[in-house]
Amino acid sequence: MGIKVGIIGIGNMGKSYALTLDQGLIAGAELSAVCGRNTQQEWVTTNLKAEVKFFDDENAFFNEAKMDALLIATPHYSHPELAMKAFAKGMHVLLEKPAGVFTKNVIEMNQAAAKSGKVFSMMFNQRTNPLYQKLRNLILAGELGEIKRTNWIITDWYRSQSYYDSSHWRATWKGEGGGVLLNQAPHQLDLWQWTTGLEPKRVHGFCHNGKYHDIEVEDDVTAYVEYENGATGVFIASTGEAPGTNRFEIQGDRGKIVVENNALTFYRLTQSEREFNATYKGGFGKPECWTIDIPVAGENTAHQGIIQNWIDAITKGTPLLAPGEEGIKGVELANAIYLSSWLNQTIELPVNPDFYYEKLQEKINQSVKNYR
Ligand SMILES: NC(=O)c1ccc[n+]([C@@H]2O[C@H](COP(=O)([O-])OP(=O)(O)OC[C@H]3O[C@@H](n4cnc5c(N)ncnc54)[C@H](O)[C@@H]3O)[C@@H](O)[C@H]2O)c1
Repeated sequence: MGIKVGIIGIGNMGKSYALTLDQGLIAGAELSAVCGRNTQQEWVTTNLKAEVKFFDDENAFFNEAKMDALLIATPHYSHPELAMKAFAKGMHVLLEKPAGVFTKNVIEMNQAAAKSGKVFSMMFNQRTNPLYQKLRNLILAGELGEIKRTNWIITDWYRSQSYYDSSHWRATWKGEGGGVLLNQAPHQLDLWQWTTGLEPKRVHGFCHNGKYHDIEVEDDVTAYVEYENGATGVFIASTGEAPGTNRFEIQGDRGKIVVENNALTFYRLTQSEREFNATYKGGFGKPECWTIDIPVAGENTAHQGIIQNWIDAITKGTPLLAPGEEGIKGVELANAIYLSSWLNQTIELPVNPDFYYEKLQEKINQSVKNYR
């Protein structure tokens, strides 16, 4: 007998989590109930153990299912609301990304989580990737010195029109609340901040709606950010480029690190660039640089790793790899990029939660594709 876990949302992700739990792949946990649409009952009956109770009514699920913990795998808008319902019932929560669509209710959710004292985690499965863990460790250990610039081109999560047409909530302001920034890029918007330990203070964003697809939200984004220490950064995301690129480059005073093609390369200066600049008298010339392939060991345990970590945090007090309260950082950044693009002005962070909410309602009201 382990922690009784329920899942709400039995779509692409929910099904896969249900199988992972039901097949006993998570030590210390058992799947007790799932909540989905009535059309999904057959899949549940066919694929999950008979003891797993199926609900197609959300209220009945929250009131009657025997659960200590809830995994939320529904579309974006419902995330904070469902998490708050679970906290009110005394449950631990594992929430799919993004934490929400707008910060106004993500702030409320974080307050409810803190008040509940329950274990709250985000499904930031990319944080289990040893590549990003190593990058974070190197940067936080000071190997790069003061960071000067970050650049992430993440354009290799290609999506076709048929993907967007596969669920009616996708790629609409009303159903999804955004495009590539809210669906594909939340992982990178999280890792960009988590690995560097830096949070942008000013943002100017350029979002292009429906550039490559018949959708009303953005499928092409470029954002320029400024950090408190004077560093700058650029983030480029698109779902319309093939083969696309996934290259994260961080330039610091002691060199640069490039993460690309599942490898981490450190271009390491033998001395600080600032120090070289202050002391070098030879005119042209630059600091000596060594190219180092950083060895990366360990398994990328992905979604299963995050679920196991959440259960271990509940049962053994293991520190969370992706604390739920950190989900707001990516939402904050996405909100700032949208706002900047809509108003064509530089936005200071944090974004005013009420103002962003109002502007989002305008987008929803002007929508021509409300919930196709
Ligand atoms: N971490 C990852 O790698 C990853 C990958 C893909 C999607 N996601 C995220 O997972 C979430 C779900 O995405 P998906 O691709 O599985 O979508 P999906 O459309 O396949 O599944 C969502 C399901 O939730 C159901 N649903 C909505 N509201 C509900 C409610 N109140 N009660 C019960 N069921 C409800 C929908 O009917 C649908 O069946 C999204 O937040 C998405 O961003 C995460």
